[in-house]
Amino acid sequence: MTTRRNVLTRSAAALGAASTGLFLPELARAQSDKVRVGFMLPYTGTYAQLGVSIEKGFLMALNEQGGKLGGKEVEFFKVDDESNPAKGVENANLLVQRDKVDVLVGTVHSGVQMGIHKVARESGVLSLIPNAGVQVATRAQCAPNVYRTSFSNSQPTLALGKAMMDRGHKKAVWITWNYSAGAEALEGFEAGYTAAGGTIIEKLAVPFPSVEFQALLTQIAALKPDAVACFFAGGGAAKFLRDFHAAGLSKTIQLYGSGFLTEGVLEAAGPAAEGVLTTMHYSDSLDTPRNKKFRLDYVKAFKAQPDVYSVQGYDAGQLLVIGANAVKGDLSNKSALYAAMNGVTIDSPRGKWTMSAAHNPIQDMYLREVVKGENKVIGIAGKAVADSGAGCRMG
Ligand code: BEZ
Repeated sequence: MTTRRNVLTRSAAALGAASTGLFLPELARAQSDKVRVGFMLPYTGTYAQLGVSIEKGFLMALNEQGGKLGGKEVEFFKVDDESNPAKGVENANLLVQRDKVDVLVGTVHSGVQMGIHKVARESGVLSLIPNAGVQVATRAQCAPNVYRTSFSNSQPTLALGKAMMDRGHKKAVWITWNYSAGAEALEGFEAGYTAAGGTIIEKLAVPFPSVEFQALLTQIAALKPDAVACFFAGGGAAKFLRDFHAAGLSKTIQLYGSGFLTEGVLEAAGPAAEGVLTTMHYSDSLDTPRNKKFRLDYVKAFKAQPDVYSVQGYDAGQLLVIGANAVKGDLSNKSALYAAMNGVTIDSPRGKWTMSAAHNPIQDMYLREVVKGENKVIGIAGKAVADSGAGCRMG
């Protein structure tokens, strides 16, 4: 796996057009009259596609402002975090200490996020989390300079259990990757499913990012549950869907998951994804003028279909635009910046959502089914779902 650390001084439009395939050599530090934005995202590995979607979504929000933030030009820096938690602090410091970014945008993987979080809390640099759901970031370790525009890991799965019990699926096996995102997704699933009367008969896990599912699929077949519920995402999710189907399990066992299971992978999964039920704060098929316009504009700009990760990146961009406009691009004016961002309601393609006091979205959850290669909304699984924010005391 190659690590590419890139320093870019380009407009949002140029960066977007070039996608992630083209990199400029390291350039001299820019003048301080520009806003310095650092992307720390996975551009390689099982979560690569997620990082690319987040970046595109974020750029789209800036491009809607003529590529500016609070009237100032924007300069971009980026680091491939490889979804490697061991390098989280080091990589975040490249952006904060070396590149002196004004804002960190990242990341996808919860373990890597903890590295960014440490650096953000110590340096005070503005940190926008466009995916990673690690709960402590908006619970006991919440911070005035850290805002999440995605979800906490237990939010999407909290609403899953009731949908399963409504379909008479009373005995389930849980399966995931063995790291914090999987453990916290289980926390939400277990709370919702047991409250609705369901029983988890087995909890299974493989190390991240392993896609060696065969032994566990054999175990699931022997357990004969009514349903399987899971957290997987990116390339690993597509492989899990294909292996579950190839093992013949989809004939007798209903597969459920948090919506990451079927986001951005439907082409790769093919018929294996048909009929899979998930809960998520977005769906491609949301029939609203806001979502339709977003999708059209995104396809026009990037020649690619958006997914939930694009939406989360776009909303991180929208949040930053609101903050930057309030301080005319001077992100060092922290009190005015945070005042503009706190409690804000974001008009998102997913539907309007509100920033909680702990800086995590309060948002609706949709129940979706994969029908003919699309995530179709078939109901609302939860209205205004909020994370507990337990232990959060804003300093
Ligand atoms: C996480 O590590 O928090 C995560 C990664 C991919 C999708 C959702 C959550």
